Amino acid sequence: MAIRVLSIVGARPNFMKIAPFARALAGLSPRVEHRLVHTGQHYDAALSDAFFDGLRIPHPDTDLGIGSGTHAEQVGRTMMALERELEEHRPDWVVVVGDVNATLAAAVTARKLQLRVAHIEAGLRSFDMTMPEEINRLVTDRLSNRLFTTDAMACGNLRAEGAPEEAIRLVGNVMIDTLDAELPRAAALDPADVVAAHRHPEAADRPPTPLPEEGFGVITLHRPSNVDDAAILEPLVDYLVEEASEVLPLVWSLHPRTVKMLKTFALWPRIAACPRLLLTRPMGYHEMLSLNRVARVILTDSGGMQEECCVLGTPCVTMRWNTERPVTLVEHGGTNRLAGNDPARIRAAMADALTAGRRPFRPPLWDGRAAERIARDLAAG
Ligand code: UD1
Repeated sequence: MAIRVLSIVGARPNFMKIAPFARALAGLSPRVEHRLVHTGQHYDAALSDAFFDGLRIPHPDTDLGIGSGTHAEQVGRTMMALERELEEHRPDWVVVVGDVNATLAAAVTARKLQLRVAHIEAGLRSFDMTMPEEINRLVTDRLSNRLFTTDAMACGNLRAEGAPEEAIRLVGNVMIDTLDAELPRAAALDPADVVAAHRHPEAADRPPTPLPEEGFGVITLHRPSNVDDAAILEPLVDYLVEEASEVLPLVWSLHPRTVKMLKTFALWPRIAACPRLLLTRPMGYHEMLSLNRVARVILTDSGGMQEECCVLGTPCVTMRWNTERPVTLVEHGGTNRLAGNDPARIRAAMADALTAGRRPFRPPLWDGRAAERIARDLAAG
């Protein structure tokens, strides 16, 4: 009888992780049957549909359509809808990825139905309980029967928490599977065209600024800890407008949450008027990768970008005080520097990053085959 796998995705960072896994499972068909469920946490075409199409992810078998809301609303609605879905299908494995609200909701719902849960990207810890994602990681790992990790430090975190040894599998990084598979398509894009095609509609009254010969940096910023508090966001905007963009032009790919908060705090007109900030709407995976390949520096608070920068060699300044991905840090051979949200530290880290230049680094097993290892492991029963 076929092994039946049901996997759950909800938000943008899940999509690049599920793409290679879905392909690896398809390669094991008919021995393995795969059902894909989208919770609908991210529903904007730019945050969702573009990724399914661009990354050749099979169309979800179900979309729970849960949409936006508070964390409790998102998790609660997902659990209610997923309970029906899981009761109906009762798969052999429920697979969850990453650390978003869908991950948590699915792990809890599946375990309560006595279904086996496998977590892809287990064991990452920021040790920062103010991050919603850290709570999601802890609960998900505690409930998972199989823990697929990206690196030895993640395995160490799980062991320190008492996870059973037989549940832990060091398999590598599915994000890097996707990066390796998609890099040729990204490399065929011209970064200047990408920026021009994604100019933010509300910054479009400004004449387009071409990408200069001297190079450019990229900003992504969306964590509640950076954007939800004016006392933090305003000094960051001051720094980006008055200083960082003077050092080199910066393409800023704006998450909907960030746009909303910039407007709430009346900061939007300042960034819209800054000629060396090139504002864009969220872009697709290949588009962002085409910028990352050649950017001189990336300023980000994203998790996945830290890993992509590490493998591509792009100097990365992480605007957070901690990271759940320490394997990407300069002290471990990567390109990543932690700078928090203090402009003085970001300034120093950016200067350091710009002198360091590009230095690609691949941790062990970040070789493009992680999803195959996971699929084979689950197919074994
Ligand atoms: C979520 C993840 C985060 C991930 C991020 C990447 C959790 C806890 N957080 O955060 O780990 O790094 O996605 O994108 O799951 N919105 C839209 N369109 C959408 C989705 C959201 O406009 O398709 C707006 C809504 O106003 C919403 C806000 O963005 O309130 C935030 O969305 P939400 O899904 O709550 O969390 P993210 O900040 O995107």
